[in-house]
Amino acid sequence: MRKLLWLTLFCHVSSAVKHSLKYFVTASSGVPNFPELVVIAQVDDVVVGYCNTDSKIVEAKQDWGKEYLDDNPQQLEWYTAECSYNQPDLFKATIFRLKKEFNQSGGVHILQKINGCEWDNETEEGIGFHQYGYDGEDILILDLKTLTWIALKPQAVVTKLRWDADMARMKYNKDFLTRICPDWLKKSLDYGKSSLLRTERPSVSLLQKTPSSPVSCHATGFFPHRAVMFWRKDGEKLHEDVDQGEILPNHDGTFQMRVDLNISSINPEDWRRYDCVFQLSGVEDDIVTKLDKAVIRTNEGKSEITLVLQFSCKFIFNKTHNKPHVSDLTAPDNGAELSMRLYPET
Ligand SMILES: *[C@@H]1O[C@H](CO)[C@@H](O)[C@H](O)[C@H]1NC(C)=O
Ligand SMILES: *[C@@H]1O[C@H](CO)[C@@H](O)[C@H](O)[C@H]1NC(C)=O
Ligand SMILES: *[C@@H]1O[C@H](CO)[C@@H](O)[C@H](O)[C@H]1NC(C)=O
Ligand SMILES: *[C@@H]1O[C@H](CO)[C@@H](O)[C@H](O)[C@H]1NC(C)=O
Repeated sequence: MRKLLWLTLFCHVSSAVKHSLKYFVTASSGVPNFPELVVIAQVDDVVVGYCNTDSKIVEAKQDWGKEYLDDNPQQLEWYTAECSYNQPDLFKATIFRLKKEFNQSGGVHILQKINGCEWDNETEEGIGFHQYGYDGEDILILDLKTLTWIALKPQAVVTKLRWDADMARMKYNKDFLTRICPDWLKKSLDYGKSSLLRTERPSVSLLQKTPSSPVSCHATGFFPHRAVMFWRKDGEKLHEDVDQGEILPNHDGTFQMRVDLNISSINPEDWRRYDCVFQLSGVEDDIVTKLDKAVIRTNEGKSEITLVLQFSCKFIFNKTHNKPHVSDLTAPDNGAELSMRLYPET
């Protein structure tokens, strides 16, 4: 159930215009040559800010982000303090405690946090979220209604009780998630509107590894991330024999996604009854691609794209069961990068 919650929280796809501000904090222990802690800020899934404990410098990743920080120096100060000592201290203490609870003496351990808020520009409704993962498993989630932490693993109970008792921090978390975060999000949208509210249509292609593998409908280069893609048969949306991928970021600030169709039980003469539909929020025209052998590109010699950790934090969380095409994450053996096998971007 928790896994489901996680997925619906971060892979929401709907026609309502929801905006989000999210912070991803990743701390590692036992990883040589890698910053102890990395923080990424995203608005609408676009990376807008970055910092790590090695440099302790908060970098804006978009022109409008730089302008935003220039105009709001007190926020830059806040981010710098968070990145330089507040978060590192908290994470260090928490990893120390978790290692003890999990009976771990050494090795590589990763503690991650996602917090932030979503805001619906029509209803003006917002939700805040704050949760932690340890070594790829969800361990703690804040319940904003009861203002208590929920331990998702027995080993996290000690931390939960400690954090529940810290009233000042709890009050701050609530204020941050329900008031400060939505306020900063709205301000960001204002500064970044020419870029965040633009639309870019993707190129869509059909890919297949071998003649018997599923056919992957792959869209890349779209913006914003509010998009849906599905397979149809005779114009009816299919729920069976499809495998829905997640929306993933490209290096150029656009997004990609894919949805696979298992063709093993489809007769060749029925292929023409199938098509793949891509819909982008704010754009009327759908992109429809017919299932046709002639247009399928085989995926032999696919390129391996290495996503640097800071742009892919959220994929460290254990979701291997629903991502057959993003091959299993390899533990960072050089400490700095995670490799993922993705379809080529173009
Ligand atoms: C903790 O680890 C030690 C050493 O490996 C082992 O002897 C002990 O049984 C473990 N305790 C628990 C509670 O797992
Ligand atoms: C909400 O966002 C959409 C898309 O950017 C825009 O068309 C609409 O006018 C906005 N609504 C309000 C109330 O600002
Ligand atoms: C991911 O979750 C599965 C099932 O819950 C588990 O068997 C597997 O060991 C986990 N992998 C990691 C890297 O934690
Ligand atoms: C496709 O469907 C067939 C039969 O329904 C099944 O045996 C096979 O495992 C499926 N393949 C994938 C990749 O899901």
